[in-house]
Amino acid sequence: MKQMTLVLAIAAALMSGTATALVQPEEVFSWQELDFAWPSKEAEDEAVKNGEYIRENNLPLGIDAWKDKLFITVPRWKAGVASSLNYIDLRTANKSSPLTPYPSWEANKLPKQGQQPPENQIVSVFRSFVDTCDRLWVMETGLADILGSPHQVSPPAIVIFDLNTDKVLRRYLLKPEDIKGDDSFFANIVVDLQPGRCDEAFAYIPDLGGYGIVVYSFKDDDSWRIKHNFFHFDPLQGDMTVGGVNFQWTDGVFGIALGNPNENGDRTVYFHPLASTMEFSVNSHALKNRTLATDPHSYDLYKIEGTKGPNSQTSESTIDPKTEVMFFTQLQKDGTACWNVKTPLEPSNVGMVAEDTERMIFTNDITIDSDRNLWMLSDRMPEFIYRRLDPNQINYRIFKVPVDEAIRGTPCDPMYQQSTTLRNAQQL
Ligand SMILES: *[C@@H]1O[C@H](CO)[C@@H](O)[C@H](O)[C@H]1NC(C)=O
Ligand SMILES: *[C@@H]1O[C@H](CO)[C@@H](O)[C@H](O)[C@H]1NC(C)=O
Repeated sequence: MKQMTLVLAIAAALMSGTATALVQPEEVFSWQELDFAWPSKEAEDEAVKNGEYIRENNLPLGIDAWKDKLFITVPRWKAGVASSLNYIDLRTANKSSPLTPYPSWEANKLPKQGQQPPENQIVSVFRSFVDTCDRLWVMETGLADILGSPHQVSPPAIVIFDLNTDKVLRRYLLKPEDIKGDDSFFANIVVDLQPGRCDEAFAYIPDLGGYGIVVYSFKDDDSWRIKHNFFHFDPLQGDMTVGGVNFQWTDGVFGIALGNPNENGDRTVYFHPLASTMEFSVNSHALKNRTLATDPHSYDLYKIEGTKGPNSQTSESTIDPKTEVMFFTQLQKDGTACWNVKTPLEPSNVGMVAEDTERMIFTNDITIDSDRNLWMLSDRMPEFIYRRLDPNQINYRIFKVPVDEAIRGTPCDPMYQQSTTLRNAQQL
């Protein structure tokens, strides 16, 4: 009887927690428009004069954290992007810090016609990935002025930097058969490796426009392309309204998140198309083994995890290895949600960890750093693409919250799961 009371008390305490599930993440950075750390005022003025820097056309999109560096990508959606791959030094940053090009200004300059680009050249990048071997993997699309007069400045490539030396370890050009003509759009990259086995890394690159996944083996320095029906968009989920802007997208496979590895080093690879409310998965051995990956009979190795509920379209997702909680952006809900992958994926197991109809419009990217902080970037991208951002308001923000605080009181919290089990046990 006494035990029962204790159980009840714990359950009640945890249940009352659900009312305050939404933590207020710290707003670390906010900008009306982006500034860059130019070598001099003259260099900036010169770039403005010759059209190399058009301030309002610089939209931050992807984030990644490594030690004191917070990487921020600025894709060349429009003309006048000063630099596509950048970082902020968190030790000296203020709230509206200018971005510093990575690894250098030179690497981020558009090459002149006929000029041989340097090995570290970055034309345009959407997202990057920091691995546990201190490497930054950059999916260089090579495509400039996407919304204006798009031109392929250099071929799509994976560029891998050693973060300790800032030198390029490798530049791998995607093969013609990896690319599906003009349809291909490579906006993401996720790296799968076991601790310490840096040479055995695989990169998974979703092709949101060509509905495929390109797998790259670091050891073999080779790539292959996979297709599956689950990589396509759901025609009923492409009509979205974000920040008052209505648009129709056909983006297929977009976000990829890695579960924890088993004893063979294989893991569940979770993925979703952007224009979809579903989550799917496949075991990594079906991607890493080229024979298996490209065999049509592998179709049934892909699984439906479940649905995240109405209006739950997601760009990026990522998993905290300690709790195995997946975080995923919620484009139409102005925030970020969570799901504990040990539970079935259904709306009742999904919790909102952050939500703000003004400050979190279009949560474009999220990442978890090595201290288990969840970082989120919101950038009002639909307004940037289809209308015009108001330079007098704050348009871009970056937030930070410890993972354990973010999930407290949500269905993703392992403590919440325990309390639910206790409650259920009691009802028996
Ligand atoms: C932030 O730091 C940059 C230099 O990194 C400086 O130019 C700028 O004035 C600072 N802003 C504020 C508000 O202190
Ligand atoms: C890859 O998959 C094929 C087909 O299932 C299998 O025969 C082969 O042994 C696998 N290779 C490795 C290295 O696991």
